[in-house]
Amino acid sequence: MAPKNILVTGGAGYIGSHTVLQLLQEGFRVVALDNLDNSSFIAIKRAAELAGDAEKNLSFQKVDLRDKEALSKVFDTIKFDAVIHFAGLKAVGESVQKPLLYYNNNLVGTITLLEVMNAHGCKNLVFSSSATVYGWPKQVPCTEEFPLSAANPYGRTKLIIEEMCRDIQKSDSEWKIILLRYFNPIGAHPSGYIGEDPRGIPNNLMPFIQQVAVGRKAELMVFGNDYNTKDGTGVRDYIHVVDLADGHISALEKLFSDQNIGCEVYNLGTGKGTSVLEMVSAFEKASGKSIPLVMCTRRPGDAEIVYASTDKADRELKWRAKHGIEEMCRDQWNWASKNPWGYGFPESES
Ligand code: NAD
Ligand code: UFG
Repeated sequence: MAPKNILVTGGAGYIGSHTVLQLLQEGFRVVALDNLDNSSFIAIKRAAELAGDAEKNLSFQKVDLRDKEALSKVFDTIKFDAVIHFAGLKAVGESVQKPLLYYNNNLVGTITLLEVMNAHGCKNLVFSSSATVYGWPKQVPCTEEFPLSAANPYGRTKLIIEEMCRDIQKSDSEWKIILLRYFNPIGAHPSGYIGEDPRGIPNNLMPFIQQVAVGRKAELMVFGNDYNTKDGTGVRDYIHVVDLADGHISALEKLFSDQNIGCEVYNLGTGKGTSVLEMVSAFEKASGKSIPLVMCTRRPGDAEIVYASTDKADRELKWRAKHGIEEMCRDQWNWASKNPWGYGFPESES
């Protein structure tokens, strides 16, 4: 059977680059598309190198999803079997400051993509949603049937895109769509050759811890130690990015094998909750570095405890996360120590 062609939007990004590599290793032909607004082409080059011989099955297109003409040209040259749609802006705080930027980039980008897919008869989609759609869950673990809400414009774009996908599939049963709600992806490829390289001050816990460990930041601010949790700090479901990437292969297999999938949603998490302090101590152990802490007030909009029910993905996608916190921290540190400045060079930092 001829290899299947997959378009990966946001393919140069953190999760995208790991998924591109895994797709190549699984024998897919991949076009990675990215405007490089929040990523580096070096990530694509390195994923290609790690893929060895399969590198020949990868090409890159520097395109902004909102550029309909350029996007159509990509679809004119290759008949895609499916699209994995990662491209989007993801900084929660920035989305509160610049909602229009987020609505424009994430919604207009996705609508343009869906229109072009429709026009070219490509109706298989895997979309990156987020556990953020569970808001502050009333109970845990979060199952896919929980009520949905959005606490900020970023989260609202995820909710709106999920709803759009359900509407489109209802209107045209040829569409097959899988919405994947990621919990907290961390870690890096075990080679330490690709990983997360956020621009500016990191919003998320692990990239911040990493920057403290390599000396780019002096201390970690712990946002709240008065939650009703084991040690007072927030609890999340951290998942190794390689497991997350693997979940996309399982989702594609489901799309290609299940004619009646319709529009289905799956959590991708481990089902285990880890507190901020537990995470810090696991990272200290893996790296041998000490992470100075400053206890601060809660970050507005943060939930207390969020972790996934993994039953549905386990049952229907035959997918389950394999790595634990120790391996996540080991691989995060391997990437950080080999690439203390990510893909770039020291810049003046605030
Ligand atoms: P990332 O920023 O590393 O990757 C996103 C990529 O999309 C970047 O390379 C960026 O340059 C590109 N992009 C953005 N807008 C674009 C546009 N209009 N046209 C073309 N390219 C564009 O982020 P990531 O962590 O890899 O996240 C990937 C997806 O997963 C995002 O949709 C994000 O919202 C979602 N997600 C991420 C997390 C997380 O914690 N990392 C959690 C839940 C969901
Ligand atoms: N935290 C700190 N200090 C920091 C950063 C985070 O104490 O410098 C704490 C937070 O308060 C929270 C935990 O670490 O308790 C995790 O915070 P992250 O920012 O790493 O992750 P969140 O769960 O808050 O949010 C992330 C993404 C969202 C996404 C969600 C679920 O930012 O976009 O995971 O996937 F929706």
